Formats: sequence, structure tokens, C-alpha cells
Amino acid sequence: MAELLLQVIGLKKYFNVGRKQVLKAVDDVSFNIERGKTLGLVGESGCGKTTAGRTIIKIYNADGGQVLFKGKDILNINKKEKFALAKEMQMIFQDPYASLDPRKTVGSIIGEGLDIHKLYNSKEQREKRIHELLKMVGLQKEHINRFPHEFSGGQRQRVGIARALAVEPSFIICDEAISALDVSIQAQIINLLMKLQKELGLTYLFIAHDLNMVRHISDDTAVMYLGNLVEKAETEELFSNPMHPYTNGLLAAAPEADPLYEMQRNHNILEGEIASPINPKPGCCFCGRCGLVLDICREIRPELIEIKKGHFLACHRGGEF
Ligand SMILES: Nc1ncnc2c1ncn2[C@@H]1O[C@H](COP(=O)(O)OP(=O)(O)OP(=O)(O)O)[C@@H](O)[C@H]1O
Ligand SMILES: [Mg+2]
Repeated sequence: MAELLLQVIGLKKYFNVGRKQVLKAVDDVSFNIERGKTLGLVGESGCGKTTAGRTIIKIYNADGGQVLFKGKDILNINKKEKFALAKEMQMIFQDPYASLDPRKTVGSIIGEGLDIHKLYNSKEQREKRIHELLKMVGLQKEHINRFPHEFSGGQRQRVGIARALAVEPSFIICDEAISALDVSIQAQIINLLMKLQKELGLTYLFIAHDLNMVRHISDDTAVMYLGNLVEKAETEELFSNPMHPYTNGLLAAAPEADPLYEMQRNHNILEGEIASPINPKPGCCFCGRCGLVLDICREIRPELIEIKKGHFLACHRGGEF
């Protein structure tokens, strides 16, 4: 059986936002990722995707649940273990403009991880490794002494990828890593990520709004709503047989490639706004917006259960409507 690189079990991350006000950014998130695979995490703005990523990678302390990396609980580890883990897990951020220090050269940005984890024996070896990383992401040796502002958005994101790869991680969280880029550049970066995955055996958590990109890159896809996972399955199964009313709405709202068809079709399937995650009500997180709501939905939160082999759903309708 394939090795489970990452297991997330009932993860919670709450923020205190005032007197007795708790914002449940991540309320109940569970998933596994096998080594070498990609899990896509989708959902509307504010549903908690970034917070989930940041909690898994320990930028935030979790408020509940477990995260197992290579079978070992990483939520309760000491400083030394945390340092070692930082080499294994990396994150690529949404905004290639803001995520690179403008005062540093590309060489020092990429070399930082090498320095911190002492991954070279000589200056020459360090430089050689940076050259190798630049080549790996499709940049040139000469770029080593340039500053971030001298690059295009797509090139900057390549620098961000090289920085993440420098420490030879096994797991990378790509948080909207391509959202800020032009469509043609997005495809280039996606292809680069897929090529690197194959060559280096990387495992990805791929967070994105763009469902077409997620479908292209992910082996499995999880759908998040207001801090909870509402559905997850193998990507093709999820896209061809969505069972949660929210997933249906998301897929219906995704733009189509054909502009004429796109102009004519009905987009108003997902009505209303995502509710507030502050002091959420009991019941299903989606019930305020769901056109198929039942009485029970307002009272009892549906659990994410395996409704069919490999297809998990949190909905009292059980996929039938
Ligand atoms: N540091 C924080 N303090 C308080 N609330 C926060 C903090 N970070 C995020 N939140 C809140 O948590 C919720 C989830 O935010 P998060 O950034 O994880 O969403 P997201 O799914 O990544 O959205 P987007 O698609 O826009 O990036 C939001 O309601 C947000 O306002
Ligand atoms: Mg985000």
C-alpha cells in the first residue's frame, strides 16, 4: 500500500476576535495525502483554506485535532523537531510580489534555506546548488544577482518555487500559487509543478479557487465550506459526480472555456454569501444557503462519511436530490 505522507484528523483553528467571539476558521478538517500525490483544496474566499495550510505547516498552533507527518504527530513537537520538520515541509505563497523580500537578491532568497539548514560545505557548493535550483525552475544562472522587482510575475513565482525546493522538502503546500498570474503563465507554472513532482517525488496540497487548474493537477479533491470539509473524492469522481449541493454550485459557477456558452448560461446557482464563521450556529454549515435544506440540516451537523468507495460526503441528503 502507498505510504500516507500526511494525515490530518479533525483539525481546528480558532481565532479570538473580541469578547466571547470565536472565529472558527478551521472547524473540522480531515484528509490524507499519499506520498507523491496531490490533494486539491477548493472553496470560496474566507472558507479557511489558507488557515488550514498554515496550521498544518505550524505557522499557527492548532486548537484541536491531529496532524501526522510520516505517521508522527507533529502538533506537539519540541523546537528541535520543529526545525527539522521545517526542512521537510514548505509553502509556496499566493502573491509572488509580496512573498519575496525586495531588498534581497534572488541568490540570497534561494540560499536562505541552505544557510539555515547548513546544506553545503563550501561557498562554491552553495553557489552550485543555487544555479542548479534556478535551472530546475527554468531560470538562468545570471539571475542569481538580480532583485525580485527585475522579474515578471511568473519568474518571481519560479523564484518562490526554487526557494521552497532548496531544502529538498518532501511536502509542499501551494497556496493559490498561480492565482496572481496571467492565464498563460499559470499553465506554465502548473506544468513546472507537475514536472518537479514527477522528478523529485513531491507531495502537494494544492489550494486554489480555479477548479479547472485543480482538476488538472490534483489526484484527489476536497471541498471546504466555512471551516469544514463537505465533500472529498478522487478528482475525476468529484468533478463528474458531485454529491454536495455546494460542490454542485461551485462547479456550476466555474467559468467555461467557450465564451459564447459562458455568456448565456445561468451563473446564479450559488446564491447569497458565505455566512460568518464567528460563533457559527449548530447544524450544517451550508444550510443558510442551500436550496435543498431539510429540517434536520438546521439542527445537526452532518458528518463527513464515505458514501461510496473513496467518495466522502457531509450532507443529510446523502447525495440524493
Ligand atoms: N490571523 C487571523 N485572525 C483572525 N481571523 C483570521 C485570521 N486569519 C484568517 N482569519 C479569518 O479566518 C477565515 C478564513 O480565512 P482564510 O484566509 O483561511 O480563508 P481562505 O479560504 O484562504 O480565503 P481566500 O480564498 O480569500 O484566500 C476568514 O473569515 C478570515 O477572516
Ligand atoms: Mg487564502
